[in-house]
Amino acid sequence: MSIDYVEMTGVYSKIQELYKKTTQDSIIHRFLHPVADPTYVYRYLWGRGCRSLFIYYDNKPVGVVDVTPCGDGAEVAILIIDAYQGRGLGKAVAYDFAGRLKKMGFRYVLAYVSPENYKALAIARRIGAEIKCRDVCVVKYVLAEGGEEMCRR
Ligand SMILES: CC(C)(COP(=O)(O)OP(=O)(O)OC[C@H]1O[C@@H](n2cnc3c(N)ncnc32)[C@H](O)[C@@H]1OP(=O)(O)O)[C@@H](O)C(=O)NCCC(=O)NCCS
Repeated sequence: MSIDYVEMTGVYSKIQELYKKTTQDSIIHRFLHPVADPTYVYRYLWGRGCRSLFIYYDNKPVGVVDVTPCGDGAEVAILIIDAYQGRGLGKAVAYDFAGRLKKMGFRYVLAYVSPENYKALAIARRIGAEIKCRDVCVVKYVLAEGGEEMCRR
């Protein structure tokens, strides 16, 4: 599977274009609530040190990975545009980023996932992450021992 990543942190126009190809259901899964204009959320995320990398598949932009460092760990969110979902891309990106973030020295990855988001939860189970669900599922994937300091949202 030929997947490449290109940093788009700060590039509002590209984020806007990508989210135009994304349904509100996927946006709700990504942000855990409806969002009219995702660029406002990115303004906040980028201000907190989040980096956004576009996912290119066969040279087409098909999604974005947002990585926000927090303590020893990183909060990570993956979005694949609807037309490309269900083809194994989300899983491939999750495996890729587990390796990349470990090499970068992060000790754990956190993700906040809706309990109805069966694809995201299937990926979390597949990679062997710890999943704790109440109204929201907290997914924690330990990359290196000793990563106990949890960041607060
Ligand atoms: C969640 C998301 C990233 C998953 O990416 P994807 O490319 O659609 O998912 P994949 O094709 O890699 O499949 C992931 C898992 O879901 C399962 N799955 C995919 N499509 C499915 C379907 N239609 N029915 C049942 N299971 C399905 C796959 O079998 C796989 O599980 P497995 O490894 O046990 O086989 C993507 O759907 C998305 O961007 N959703 C909106 C944003 C979001 O929810 N982000 C995650 C929270 S931050």
